[in-house]
Amino acid sequence: MNWNNWFRQVHRWLSIAFTVAVIVNIIAMVQEKSAVWVGLLALLPLGLLLVTGLYMFVLPYVTKRRDAGRTGG
Ligand code: HEM
Repeated sequence: MNWNNWFRQVHRWLSIAFTVAVIVNIIAMVQEKSAVWVGLLALLPLGLLLVTGLYMFVLPYVTKRRDAGRTGG
């Protein structure tokens, strides 16, 4: 598995972790048991989603530029 695929898989599974954390947050809110760590539970996967997502976003532009350099001579 190459790095691009690895980032995509990590992003996929983080999205599930984030979804679960959001549900836990909603349950905590309804039960009025909100604590700081419950909020952080969602913030951690979201931060990692942002990093892996931005990596996937710039990937096509970086590879395109590299390809153009290779064939554009
Ligand atoms: C936080 C900022 C986020 C950024 C910048 C971001 C960015 C991206 C990008 C660029 C892709 C690839 C699209 C493509 O195929 O070209 C992607 C795929 C995906 N994102 Fe995100 N994303 C973010 C957050 C999330 C969240 C919150 C979820 C769901 C809870 C999510 C779920 C997914 C899924 C399931 C895919 C498809 C993965 C696959 O192809 O296997 N992302 N995202």
